Amino acid sequence: MPGEEIADHKSVLLLYSSRFGHSRKIADAVAVELMRAGLTVEVAGLTQTTRIDPGRHIGLGLVISVRYGHFARAAYKLVKAHKAWIESVPTLLMTISLTARKPEKRDPTNHVYTRKFLKKTAWCPSQTEVVAGSLQYPLYNVFDRACIRLIMLMMGGEADGRSEIDYTDWDRVRAAAREYGERCLRNKRAKKTIEAAAYQRQPR
Ligand SMILES: Cc1cc2nc3c(=O)[nH]c(=O)nc-3n(C[C@H](O)[C@H](O)[C@H](O)COP(=O)(O)O)c2cc1C
Repeated sequence: MPGEEIADHKSVLLLYSSRFGHSRKIADAVAVELMRAGLTVEVAGLTQTTRIDPGRHIGLGLVISVRYGHFARAAYKLVKAHKAWIESVPTLLMTISLTARKPEKRDPTNHVYTRKFLKKTAWCPSQTEVVAGSLQYPLYNVFDRACIRLIMLMMGGEADGRSEIDYTDWDRVRAAAREYGERCLRNKRAKKTIEAAAYQRQPR
C-alpha cells in the first residue's frame, strides 16, 4: 500500500459528532481514504468526556454536524482543552449541514456556522471543509420534523416531511480526505527527518 513504509503505531484521530449517523458515515469514508494512504486511523464518537492522549496521535479530524445553528458543545470543549496540541499537528475540520447543499455555501468564509465556530474557538485548522449533509424526515420526531420542514420551506428545499435525501458529494469528501492524508504524511516525514538529524548531531 502506498505510504506503508512510514506507517507506525501513532494514528490520526477522527472524531465525529452525529445525531442521525450521517457525520459518522462521512468520518468512516474519510478514514478509508486515510488508511488507503497508509495511515493508521482511530475513529470515535465525540462526547463531553472525550479526552485526547497527544502521545498516541499524529493528527486530528473533526466531523461535526449542525443542529439548530450550533455544533455540539463537546466540539468547543475539545478544541479549548487541547488547543496547544491541536495547533501543533495537521488538523481537518469537516462541518456537515443542510445549508451546504448550496455550492456557494461550501466556501468556509460563506458558511456562517463554520465561521462562527472558528471565531469562537480561535482555531485555524490546517484544512476546513464544508460538506452537505442529508435529510432524513422518517428519523425525526414530530417537533424536529416540523422545524426542518419550516427551515426547508424557507430555504427552498424539500419540505414534504417524508423524503430521505443524501446531499453529500462523496467524491468531494474522498478528495478532501486524500488531501488531508497527504498533509499528515508530509508532516510525519518532516518530523522523522528532524529526529534523524537531531540523532546524528548527538555526541558519541
Ligand atoms: C433537528 C435538526 C436540526 C438541524 N439544524 C440545522 C441547521 O440549523 N442548519 C443546517 O444547515 N442544517 C441543519 N440540520 C441538518 C443536519 O446538519 C444534517 O441533516 C446532517 O446530515 C445531520 O448529520 P448527523 O446525522 O450526523 O447529525 C438539522 C438537522 C436536524 C435533524
